[in-house]
Amino acid sequence: MITTTGLTKVYRAHRARGHEITALDGVDLHVREGEVYGVIGQSGAGKSSLIRCVNLLERPTAGTVTVAGQDLTALAGRGPRAGRELRKARSNIGMIFQHFNLLSSRTVQDNVELPLEILGKSGKERSRKALELLDLVGLTDKAKAYPAQLSGGQKQRVGIARALAGDPKVLLSDEATSALDPETTRSILHLLRDLNRQLGLTVLLITHEMDVVKTVCDSAALMENGRIVESGTVTELLATPGSELAAALFPVSGDASADDRTVVDVTFQGDAATQPVISQLARTYNIDISILGAAMDTVAGKQVGRMRIELPGRYEENVVPIGFLRERGLQLDLVEAAADTAAADTAAADKAAQASVPAKEGAK
Ligand SMILES: Nc1ncnc2c1ncn2[C@@H]1O[C@H](COP(=O)(O)OP(=O)(O)OP(=O)(O)O)[C@@H](O)[C@H]1O
Ligand SMILES: [Mg+2]
Repeated sequence: MITTTGLTKVYRAHRARGHEITALDGVDLHVREGEVYGVIGQSGAGKSSLIRCVNLLERPTAGTVTVAGQDLTALAGRGPRAGRELRKARSNIGMIFQHFNLLSSRTVQDNVELPLEILGKSGKERSRKALELLDLVGLTDKAKAYPAQLSGGQKQRVGIARALAGDPKVLLSDEATSALDPETTRSILHLLRDLNRQLGLTVLLITHEMDVVKTVCDSAALMENGRIVESGTVTELLATPGSELAAALFPVSGDASADDRTVVDVTFQGDAATQPVISQLARTYNIDISILGAAMDTVAGKQVGRMRIELPGRYEENVVPIGFLRERGLQLDLVEAAADTAAADTAAADKAAQASVPAKEGAK
């Protein structure tokens, strides 16, 4: 539904040479129809630049943006005559903002009607649509109120209703919940999820909060220095060994209690999440397993968890139990081998473990 290829944005802060900032450095983004896609990254990573280039509020320096099958960059490049076509293509895209961007002199209903006025709809049509949308976001009783009379969460609901006025296929959200308290954030996220399901709306959201990704996203990408360094469905990411995003979604900690121990992070997904694998492991091999840390949660409606466990003995001695876990479809990340095990030995043992029991490769 949204595809960018080689998207690049270079800001020229000054006319003078040497003052260029590469905010986007060849971004290939692929958001599928009907999914909620989260882009996460530190401040300055280029997230807002990405979203502004996707709806052509910002003109990319290079690369292409396709939304709902239309190449927006091509339209933007064809001069003023294509301007109208670009505006029409843009009506496929709704946008919500961190600070809501409501007009304080207009009532809630009039704010929602604004884009419909621009589209040249009749008064009757505008008012019917606005009231329908206010109902959808749960604000029917606030139609005649002014923005100043609303809470932050209510203002964002108005922002969402306004974004939906042109029946967009895609909703873009730039930190739409970061000015809200946690509970209001949750209610807005649930609203976005409901709209995604009810209307089949594709949502691209920018956030710096991992919780947002965990609550609503089907897929996610991590941005660093203008590049996407990791991306995929949340399920795929969790199944990717060494994924930074997965580790950030499910941080687990805990140190080995002694030198001759093996510490492993285990990721549980789907059926594996509900099976008593750890107790089976302990019983099958008659070993004591310590749980050093754990995090369980529901991601996109599926139960997922991570656990850091400690097995007695060095890694080489645990090749068989580790194979047992891999065989059950669990993803294992070795945290640290025993102190006196050289890296080469670990690699060799790892190879042996992989060879004796073929590891289930992730979906990637
Ligand atoms: N209009 C602009 N002119 C010049 N430089 C800009 C402009 N907009 C953004 N930048 C620069 O581009 C880089 C990426 O900025 P961007 O706003 O996309 O980051 P971000 O990931 O959204 O950060 P944040 O989380 O703080 O919102 C930064 O170095 C920023 O200073
Ligand atoms: Mg930003």
